[in-house]
Amino acid sequence: MSALVKFRRIVFTRQVLIPVGIVYLFLFLILGPWSPRWASSFSPFTETPKPKGPIRQSTNFRPPPPLQERVPCYGPRGQFLSRSPDDELKEVKLDGVEYPKPFWGSYATINLEQTWMTIDDRYGPYGYGEEDKSYNRSKVDWDTINWGKLQNECFERNRHRFPTSATPFDNTLQMVRLGYRNVTRIPETRQWHEFKNTRRTAIVVRAWRGYDWKAEDLQNLRSLIVETSLRTGGEYQVVLLVDMKDYEPYIFASDENYEKALSELGLPAEFREIAVLWDDRLLESWYPDIAEHRTMWQVYQPVQLFSLHYPEFDHIWQVELDMRFTGDAGKFLDHMSDFARKEPRKQAFERAMFQQMENKIGDYKSFFDAVNRANKGGAYIWGPLRIPDIDPIGPEPPTELAENEDFKWGVGEDADVIVTSVCNNAQKADAWVFKGWIGGFKDGTSTPRFFCPPAITRTSRTLLLAVHEAQLTKGLRAPSEATPSSFALWHGLKLSFPQHPVFWKREHDDETQEGWWKGGPANSTDGVGPNLWEHPRGMGLTFWWESEWPRQIVDAWMGKELAKDVAHPWLVVEKDGKKYVPNMMMHPMKHYH
Ligand SMILES: *[C@@H]1O[C@H](CO)[C@@H](O)[C@H](O)[C@H]1NC(C)=O
Ligand SMILES: *[C@@H]1O[C@H](CO)[C@@H](O)[C@H](O)[C@H]1NC(C)=O
Ligand SMILES: *[C@@H]1O[C@H](CO)[C@@H](O)[C@H](O)[C@H]1NC(C)=O
Repeated sequence: MSALVKFRRIVFTRQVLIPVGIVYLFLFLILGPWSPRWASSFSPFTETPKPKGPIRQSTNFRPPPPLQERVPCYGPRGQFLSRSPDDELKEVKLDGVEYPKPFWGSYATINLEQTWMTIDDRYGPYGYGEEDKSYNRSKVDWDTINWGKLQNECFERNRHRFPTSATPFDNTLQMVRLGYRNVTRIPETRQWHEFKNTRRTAIVVRAWRGYDWKAEDLQNLRSLIVETSLRTGGEYQVVLLVDMKDYEPYIFASDENYEKALSELGLPAEFREIAVLWDDRLLESWYPDIAEHRTMWQVYQPVQLFSLHYPEFDHIWQVELDMRFTGDAGKFLDHMSDFARKEPRKQAFERAMFQQMENKIGDYKSFFDAVNRANKGGAYIWGPLRIPDIDPIGPEPPTELAENEDFKWGVGEDADVIVTSVCNNAQKADAWVFKGWIGGFKDGTSTPRFFCPPAITRTSRTLLLAVHEAQLTKGLRAPSEATPSSFALWHGLKLSFPQHPVFWKREHDDETQEGWWKGGPANSTDGVGPNLWEHPRGMGLTFWWESEWPRQIVDAWMGKELAKDVAHPWLVVEKDGKKYVPNMMMHPMKHYH
């Protein structure tokens, strides 16, 4: 008799089976089938009934208390930022100069200051002009700066202001958290209710291997860290998310590989500790059912994985290296999130389908009322936008009909997605290059979906984890610029478009403006955006994916000579021999080639 057969005979005698059964029952009662400990250590028994459907958020959301006053932090000059003039921006009002009027968006709507700065006022603290004799700030030896450490020290000084769930962002080599799915030590999917809020937001700046770092990029990145993280007492944490593409050897195979990859990036030492690397294989390993992982289609995949592995951030701003805040970046982002928090859920999406143009419709109240009239007091989105593939996690609306709700619901609640440009209906957008690109959905291309380009957004952990789960377990996919907005709507999560000021290269250009306006909300049959999708080209906007104007503005601001066929940007105003630009967010500001 072989040993195996002998063993089987022993195991299947009743004397053994009965005690084993008792032990099993005992463990089952103590740990429960829902216990993660049980699930991970007794893998044969993981197929226990799951709770019916996902856990939904409560309808009556209670806003968290405001955070206590911000405690000053040390800046790159080793001084408290509250007492260091050399670190300060000089935002000024210009007497006798009329503030420019946006093409769309509004200073009043997002409560943004109408200030001006010269390029030196703006980037001087971060090293702009430091090689000139006239540089009259104290110089910083940037190579000795560690922005990761400065941010963590700032958070520590402010730790008492945050819930205990908030933790510093330890990004030393020993703490690399991203890794392939087949060796992961964290649950593959996680849901919103597993986490307590930390009141912290990560600002994820996208970079890639081979990026040509210029002085202007470094100054921009420094400004982002000081203004968003250090000046807010750690409410934001700036992280550089670096795409290593197909780098060999595998960066997650060993610490040595990861370190080697990091050192080969050409990334200045000051930013080493804020860099988080990922590569193509990471995405393929987590999302095998999604054939396309390239940035154009799936720019959120690395952000989803970042959120899964770094759940200590309630929200994640995804920003690009070719963005510029011509005013204080931290104040700008605060204004965006404040607006989104105050906005009611009712018609927030419908408002995001139109552009507020002050010269066409007046202030935000008039715009708000016009969208309400176009929707006859109701709403297209009321609770989740139902599709067969998604079990919503967002709350039930407080009334059955939107008509019966008085714009109170959701006020005070942080948005799950803040978009930075107007949203569009994929069904209407015939010329949209990604129109047919959708997969895994039962209704295919008839699935209602909305895109709000560019992929510069703030998304909540709640939303990112939901997208992650849908991609991982069901292979659901929509193109990048439709991902956060559509998933938020399907789940019934809060979406907001704070209408920040955007300018057009010609100061008075009624014809082009009409082309975008299309009669506004009053001319919309369904109240969900203009009837027609077609619009003029956006090459001369300050915030538009294909625009060339931001580069020209910055060049003129720096006093560079512009090409002969390029008109002087009217936004750059000269006073007392200095060049000023207004306060705004610009994208994209391309490098020279
Ligand atoms: C430093 O230089 C700037 C730009 O040249 C100038 O506007 C400013 O007044 C100077 N500050 C001092 C303290 O000299
Ligand atoms: C895990 O996946 C990676 C990437 O697909 C692969 O290179 C590696 O061999 C796998 N490791 C194990 C333990 O299966
Ligand atoms: C109103 O919308 C229609 C399409 O439904 C369009 O043809 C017309 O030009 C719009 N009116 C204005 C003033 O833009």
